[in-house]
Amino acid sequence: MIRENLYNGSSMINYRIVLKGPTELKGEISISGAKNASLPELAASILSGERCILERVPEVEDIKTMIEALKNIGASVTFESNRAIINMKRVVSPVVKREISETSRASILILGPLLARNGYAKVALPGGCDIGDRNINFHLDGLRKMGARIETESEKGYIVAEAKFLSGIDFVFPGKTVTGTENLLMAATLAEGKTVLKNCAVEPEVSDLADFLIAMGAEIKGVGTETLEIKGKSGLHGATHHVIPDRIEAGTYLIAACFKGNDIIIKDCNPGHMGSILNILRRMGFKIKLDGGSMSVERSGPLKGVDVETEPYPGFPTDLQAQLTALMTQIDGLSSISENIFNNRFRHAVELNKLGANIEISGNRSIIKGGTKLKGSYVMTTDLRASASLVLAGLIAQGETIIENAYQLFRGYENMQKKLNQIGANIDIIEV
Ligand code: EPU
Repeated sequence: MIRENLYNGSSMINYRIVLKGPTELKGEISISGAKNASLPELAASILSGERCILERVPEVEDIKTMIEALKNIGASVTFESNRAIINMKRVVSPVVKREISETSRASILILGPLLARNGYAKVALPGGCDIGDRNINFHLDGLRKMGARIETESEKGYIVAEAKFLSGIDFVFPGKTVTGTENLLMAATLAEGKTVLKNCAVEPEVSDLADFLIAMGAEIKGVGTETLEIKGKSGLHGATHHVIPDRIEAGTYLIAACFKGNDIIIKDCNPGHMGSILNILRRMGFKIKLDGGSMSVERSGPLKGVDVETEPYPGFPTDLQAQLTALMTQIDGLSSISENIFNNRFRHAVELNKLGANIEISGNRSIIKGGTKLKGSYVMTTDLRASASLVLAGLIAQGETIIENAYQLFRGYENMQKKLNQIGANIDIIEV
């Protein structure tokens, strides 16, 4: 299922992106706060009855959806100038409705903290399958082990979880899961006794959440490692936290900087979180200049195709796979990407081919015959990162590219149109 519409609280609207290319981009782009850190951190505010302040939260649709969910549960929330102030004094209605879960899967992040704080949580099953299977069995197994009774009312589309109290557990994740790690970490902060979580995801967003929880009074050891030890508390207090820069947004613009003719400085990012993409671009022949929190690219010397695999952090992120593919279409020779995280994340390839790319899909691997000229066409985006990939391709394609279902882009990129137009792009967004 593709979720095609923008939920604005009462009605559904959608947008179309119109790009005129090719354009050469020159200037600076400042990176926003990380969407995938802000989402669990907003959910974590449920764990406290006091005021929590999150700075540098990106103004994107997935964040607005999460805030809507928190308000429905009973929080007072203000969100202005990238600062979210959340106060969940009392849980009024422990329910995350279907409209919310349909637009953002991140609503599952509410399950752990809401159950831990309130003893009861009813969360609509996250819908959609736009990039492949998105299981939540590890989240539920962990919460059950902590003592929760959980029913999944598939026909009604809800997960209902109940527990008078949660108990500390020893739990080994059977596979790496980002939101699963975050959900159990949050629940464990209010569980009785000690929890040891093994084989945890080590994405920077998980560590940033742990830092916020520690600022709220949680006791967590092993931050940044695969084993997290949490000593449960009877309550957490309010805190203020500055969200880390979005490494996927930074990676997207770094890839844009690699296209011929572009001269972009990416500012306010953390290259320390971006080792895998930096290594791959260097293997392709790009010279990347790092200067504190800034990055730029030099194209000198020969470039070549490379073989890449997506992996959990610190490996190459699946969330940059589609954007890197767009770049590979412009590099002479063969490149390939094996997608090891999600089983249906190649839909952008079909759309890139409509622009003139030469990409073949074989199982979980895409093979890109590079050095093709791209020509503007009519394409459809299928998920957030596919949208970014099509924007990158549209910027260098000759003529007009129309991208339908632009809602997907707004889910996760703050002001992409403005950021790119300021440095020379020609992008219009049209309401349809
Ligand atoms: N999995 C299970 N069981 C589980 C949980 C996951 O089998 O209980 C499997 C999934 O089916 C999938 C794999 O494990 O094949 C990885 O899933 P994971 O749980 O790590 O993904 P997620 O937590 O749902 C987060 C990001 C995604 C990002 C992935 C992988 C957030 C809100 N979302 O999703 O971000 O692609 O981790 O890094 O943090 C995006 O921003 O565009 C995006 C999709």
